Amino acid sequence: MYQLSPSILGADFYNLEKQIMQVEKAGCKWLHVDVMDGMFVPSISMGMPVISSVREHTSLFLDVHLMIEKPERYIKEFAKSGADMITVHTEACTHLDRTLTLIHECGAKAGVALNPATSLDTLEYVLDKVDMVLLMTVNPGFGGQRYIPSCTSKIRRLREKINSLGYQADIEVDGGINFDTINTVLDAGANVIVAGSAVFHGDITDHIHKFQEQFAQY
Ligand code: DX5
Ligand code: ZN
Repeated sequence: MYQLSPSILGADFYNLEKQIMQVEKAGCKWLHVDVMDGMFVPSISMGMPVISSVREHTSLFLDVHLMIEKPERYIKEFAKSGADMITVHTEACTHLDRTLTLIHECGAKAGVALNPATSLDTLEYVLDKVDMVLLMTVNPGFGGQRYIPSCTSKIRRLREKINSLGYQADIEVDGGINFDTINTVLDAGANVIVAGSAVFHGDITDHIHKFQEQFAQY
C-alpha cells in the first residue's frame, strides 16, 4: 500500500489549517510531522502542542518523526498528544529495543529512522518489531535539500531483506523527494513517501494528485 505523507515542515504555518484540509481533501491518509530539538539536528521545529491541536481537527494518520536526542523521555507525551506513528532515530537511542517497546506500550505504531550514513546492520535485531523503517534520503534537519543518490541501493537492500524475512514493515523515505526522484525510490521499494517542499507550494492539490498518479503505476 503506497502512502504520501506530506511534511508540514514545508507548510505555511500561518495557513496550517487550510493547508492540512487541502491535504485531506486531496485524498492523503498520512501527515508527516517533523520534531527537531536543536541538538540531534541543528534546527528547532515544533512539538506536542502543534500535534494535539492538529489531532483535534483531523483524522489523518499522524506520522511523527522525532529528530531529538534521547526520545524515550517524551514518548508518552507524544502518544498522548495524538501521534499514530512515532519514529525515533537509531543514532539517538542508547536502548533502542526498550524505546520501541515503550512506543507500542503507549498504543502507537513504532518506526525507526536511519541517517544516510547509518548502516542497515543496525536494524538486525529490531526489524521484527518495527512497523516502519524511515530511511533518510538527506541529512536530517531541513526541508528543501537534494536527494542523496547512494540511498537508492540502501532502499533496495532493505526491501529485499524485509521481503525475504516475510515482514510487513513499511519503508518510508524522507528528504529530497520530488517529481525527479519519486520513481527512483518507488522502483527501489519504498512505499511511504514523505514530501515537504514538493507538496507545499503553489497548487498543493495538484502536486498531491501527481504523486498519487505515480503510485498508481506500481
Ligand atoms: C528533514 C525532514 C523532512 C523534510 C523533508 O529533516 O525530516 O521530513 O520536511 O522536506 P523535503 O521534502 O523538502 O526534502
Ligand atoms: Zn521527516
